[in-house]
Amino acid sequence: MKIFSCVAGLAAALVSPAAGQAVLPLIPFDVVVTAGVAAIPAPLTGKPGDPKAGGKVVAERRLGNCLSCHEIDALRGEEFHGDVGPSLDGVAGRWDTGTLRMIVVNAKKVFGEETVMPAFYRVDGLNRVRPEFIGKPILTAQQVEDVVAFLATLK
Ligand code: HEC
Repeated sequence: MKIFSCVAGLAAALVSPAAGQAVLPLIPFDVVVTAGVAAIPAPLTGKPGDPKAGGKVVAERRLGNCLSCHEIDALRGEEFHGDVGPSLDGVAGRWDTGTLRMIVVNAKKVFGEETVMPAFYRVDGLNRVRPEFIGKPILTAQQVEDVVAFLATLK
C-alpha cells in the first residue's frame, strides 16, 4: 500500500487566475493505492456528503452533467441519459467509497489517461480551459462529497 499527498493541484490553484476571479484552492487529500487501484479514503470535507444534494449535482447540466454519459435508473425522471459510459446502477457494489471518490475527483487515476470522463476536482494538467474556469475545479469539495454519497446509494 502506497500513501502520498496530492499537492500538485494545490500548487496549480495558486497560479493567478484571470483578473478578478476568486481562486478556490483545492483541499489537499491523500491517495491510497491498493493492489493497483487508487482511492481517496477520507471525505474531502471531513464528513460524509448528502446523497439527495448529490443526486441534483449529478443531474444538473452545469455541474456534474453525469447523465450526458451515464444511465442511472434512480434518476429516471430526468429526460436524457447518455451511454458513453457504463450505467451507474449497482456501482456501489463494484467500487468502494474511496475509489468512487477517486473516480469523481480524477477518473484518470482509476481508468488511465485515455478515459473521456472529466476530472471534477482537479485544476492542473487540463487542456483548453476557458479563462473563467482556470484555477477552479468543476465541482466544489462539498459537491464531490454529495455526489459520492449519492453514488454509494446505487447498490
Ligand atoms: C464525457 C462522458 C462522461 C461524463 C460527463 C461522466 N463520466 Fe463517468 N465514466 C465515463 C466513462 C467512459 C466511464 C468508463 C471508464 C472508462 O472506460 O473510461 C466512466 C466511469 C464511471 C464510473 C465507474 C462505473 C463502473 O461501473 O465501473 C463512475 C462511478 C462514474 N463514471 C461516475 C461519474 C459521475 C458521478 C459523473 C458526474 C459527476 C460522471 N461519471 C461523468 C464517462 C463520463
